[in-house]
Amino acid sequence: MLDKTTSNKEIGKALNRVDGRLKVTGQAQYSAEVKLPNLAYGVVVQSTIARGRIKDIDTSKAISSPDINVFSYAHRPQPLRKPGKSDNLFLFDDPIIRYHGQIIALVTADSLESAKRAASLLKISYEEQKGQTSLQLAMSNERHQLLVPKEEANSKRGDFSSAFKAAPIKISETYTTPVETHNPMEPFATTAVWQGSSLTVYDSTQAVFVTRDVLAETLGLPAKQVRVISRFIGGGFGCKLSVWSHVPLTAMAARDINRPLKLVLERAQMFGPVGFRPSTIQKLSIAADKNGQLKAINHEVVSETSSFAEFVETATVCAKSTYACDNVDTSQRILRLDIGKPTWMRAPGHATGSFAVESAMDELAVALGMDPLELRIKNFADKDPDSKLPWSSNVLRDCYRQGAERFGWKNRVAKPGSITREGQFVGMGMATSLHASWRNPASASVKLLSDGTALVQSGTQDIGTGTYTVMSQIAAEKLALPVSKVKFELGDTNMPPGPMSGGSTTALSVGPPVAMAALAAIKKLIEVAIEDKQSPLFGAKAEAVSADNGTLSLKDDKRKSETYGAILKRTKSKSLEARYDNTPGNEESKYSMSSFGAQFAEVEVDPDFGTVRVSRFVGAYSGGVILNPKTARSQMIGGIIFGISMALHEQTVTDHNLNCIINNNLAEYNLPVHADIANLEPFFVEEHDPIINTLGVKGIGELGITGAAAAIANAVYNATGKRIRDLPITLDKVMS
Ligand code: MOS
Repeated sequence: MLDKTTSNKEIGKALNRVDGRLKVTGQAQYSAEVKLPNLAYGVVVQSTIARGRIKDIDTSKAISSPDINVFSYAHRPQPLRKPGKSDNLFLFDDPIIRYHGQIIALVTADSLESAKRAASLLKISYEEQKGQTSLQLAMSNERHQLLVPKEEANSKRGDFSSAFKAAPIKISETYTTPVETHNPMEPFATTAVWQGSSLTVYDSTQAVFVTRDVLAETLGLPAKQVRVISRFIGGGFGCKLSVWSHVPLTAMAARDINRPLKLVLERAQMFGPVGFRPSTIQKLSIAADKNGQLKAINHEVVSETSSFAEFVETATVCAKSTYACDNVDTSQRILRLDIGKPTWMRAPGHATGSFAVESAMDELAVALGMDPLELRIKNFADKDPDSKLPWSSNVLRDCYRQGAERFGWKNRVAKPGSITREGQFVGMGMATSLHASWRNPASASVKLLSDGTALVQSGTQDIGTGTYTVMSQIAAEKLALPVSKVKFELGDTNMPPGPMSGGSTTALSVGPPVAMAALAAIKKLIEVAIEDKQSPLFGAKAEAVSADNGTLSLKDDKRKSETYGAILKRTKSKSLEARYDNTPGNEESKYSMSSFGAQFAEVEVDPDFGTVRVSRFVGAYSGGVILNPKTARSQMIGGIIFGISMALHEQTVTDHNLNCIINNNLAEYNLPVHADIANLEPFFVEEHDPIINTLGVKGIGELGITGAAAAIANAVYNATGKRIRDLPITLDKVMS
């Protein structure tokens, strides 16, 4: 087996990030940092009403010098774009205002300062109509109707109504989650450069190939004339999975002014026009028999969407897939509001849905007088309860056990308010986490060079998760080279295509083709060596040759050996290339693939102020083979902090009279700081999955947040006896 050629064990090492030095020394070039001659700067101007139309845009004061250009519906970039299919792109086709913050003009100038000044001098007048931005208010207004989405509408198994009626113990409550806005450190940034009719765009995107295809379609260009580059990304969390209006607008304006153009969204502009997690209203009914066996679940979810595009926050996923239960009804409904298009945000559906399901499980445990952990173990699903397929692997019970052990769950006292510490009420809560592991097609190439190094490429992204590092490790191990001899490159549509980096899919989708391309390269190298008369390996059988630390040698006679570089130096091209295009097999029709976790939170609640602090958080997760324990752990820490933030801090606040977001800055959009984060202890439970892919790797990124907010809410209940079903858990709700 080629797989066994190597003794360079790199997979599973806690390697530091290979791109870490570039980042901390400022050498990593982000999309806004591309240096280009004759660069122009763009700024966007946003609507200040939520609904209506633009009457007039007066540019007379704004255009004070020849370098200044103002693009809007009244002056569209030339040549015009081809009408696109994307439902979230508004490229100045009409004067209609669909939400507060819609991008209605793009101003370009020689400098950022003059572009900003010119933008401030635009005089825009509107014909305003009354808008609606509140899901709660709209629900009570007949003019607004709940819509059945095209996808993810209803699901049903068994007979919920009869089972619920017959069950002795039941809970029926409503849980709500607010709008949340993605706030990656790096805002959106696009730099567009034309060379004739070919376009290069440096863009902060989680999906270079999606961005390329949307640009090509929108601009009426063949895909091969568009190149998208995204080498470093300062976080995305889902908002950068979509292409938003400012990206094609930058490309169109650059073509019109015949100069490279750079556009960076300001922090405030991240709130509204580039996606957000929609608010949800979730009615959850759950019933069990006296022993705690689940009998019936009904989950009805309403989430908001925009007037122009459907987005469904698929929160019913947890009710369907987490526990063994025969009678489950779910429904998703959406309501159109005068808001921007919502989008995926870290563990979409799972983060919001698990808050309802895992809170309700805790309430059910209280009603049963049962330990919440025991209730979950009792209802463990030994196959996928929705599809009925066997799991490719599932060590959730080990996660429960090991997590409880490390957390000290046995010290919990069921009666709320039983434990105090230095004047604070102490509470403990837990929740289940699960996330599907989806596999996407992906390609990779490997080039062995005569200096003994390898260049490995795939058009994937590193959104901060560690793609550069883990792919370097996989390639190095399969090439039998130290990591220092391997260069992994990504984020460029000139490379073999990679999928979007979302849904915790990158490692498990891109890892296999990287491994296979590396193995194919070594196979080719062995063929070259055994056919080369000058090689000590000449005439050997391929199976008799092994690769180790950059050297090929005969397995039976290690003295007969030659380095990769020496072999390649005698070839005409001085290098050798292999590529692998991977399409996952049909395992998904036979198995259900997910990763799992058990979340344990301890909180301290101040009896006088109602302030909540997460004093400890233990997460036990399963993710198959862990490629790098350090970067994997960092992802879980990030996920848990996201969960703490969801539980206690984050909400996008809209003034529903003005229909505008009022906390569009990092001072008033509360995010946890170091002082809010105490002891986080994520760890991985051993798991082997021979089905998911050749490496046994599952997705882990979104496990950390899933269930985390419920674990904290459940801990708040245990500390105070107060059940808070509306996120975030702020002190007013604790005190009321
Ligand atoms: Mo994530 S919402 O899959 O970037």
